[in-house]
Amino acid sequence: MRLKGKVAVVTGGAKGIGEAYSTGLAAEGANVVIADIDQEVGERVAQSINQSGGKAIFVHTDVSQQKDTENMVAQTVKTFKRIDILVNNAGILFIAPIEETTEEMWDKLLAVNVKGLFFCSQAAAKEMKKQKSGKIINISSIAAIGGQAGLCAYSSTKGAVLPITRVFALELVDFNIQVNAILPGTTDTGMAAEASKDPVWKQQVTESIPMKRLGRTIDLLGAVLYFASSDSDYCTGQTLIVDGGSSMI
Ligand SMILES: NC(=O)c1ccc[n+]([C@@H]2O[C@H](COP(=O)([O-])OP(=O)(O)OC[C@H]3O[C@@H](n4cnc5c(N)ncnc54)[C@H](O)[C@@H]3O)[C@@H](O)[C@H]2O)c1
Repeated sequence: MRLKGKVAVVTGGAKGIGEAYSTGLAAEGANVVIADIDQEVGERVAQSINQSGGKAIFVHTDVSQQKDTENMVAQTVKTFKRIDILVNNAGILFIAPIEETTEEMWDKLLAVNVKGLFFCSQAAAKEMKKQKSGKIINISSIAAIGGQAGLCAYSSTKGAVLPITRVFALELVDFNIQVNAILPGTTDTGMAAEASKDPVWKQQVTESIPMKRLGRTIDLLGAVLYFASSDSDYCTGQTLIVDGGSSMI
């Protein structure tokens, strides 16, 4: 067990890829805080981890609300006494061509994917600085580095995660806190699951991936565990692309 006794918070940890991070971190021995807006599913995931011999709690958190991000960290410290790992996974997606992209879409995307990630990190960093250790893992997307029709606003928010990662990494370097980002490719769950039901869409996307398959949650968990563990202690401000080779062509 690589994370025995560590305390990990996973935002958006109730469903999709985030659920796999929550259960995967728990399986490596971490005490897990599932921070999500979906209370029912989040509590179910926490219960399932506890029934399997792990330790988890659910904390209702809307990452777009700064007071919720502070409460998320306060509840974590109250229950588990510290916070070692923050996985900034909560994210939302709107697909719309440029002319149909609204101000409301921009505001929501920025509030969750950028502002939310920033304030979760800010709140966690305050505690990590006291401990003089910590790992912040930001979930971006390959949308941050390539152009995809319909994803102008979403891609912009995922792009913003990259400088946020570098600046946090620099400002926290003296406190033994490493901050890195993961850029997943299209993954066969969560946001992309709905689109994957369309066999034409799935075939088109799959053919564009050198490995000829969509990502699976297990493909991403390894990257999270690397950045969460001491294996990555000499690595900060970096990005790891996990996309079956899509972005190399
Ligand atoms: N699925 C993919 O193909 C893919 C590819 C690249 C990057 N990503 C990124 O991975 C992350 C997870 O994606 P997913 O596909 O599992 O998404 P998903 O929609 O299945 O799950 C997102 C989770 O975040 C929670 N959430 C949404 N808004 C929230 C808020 N305001 N506060 C707290 N929690 C909130 C949801 O309840 C849900 O549990 C996202 O950041 C996404 O951008 C996904």
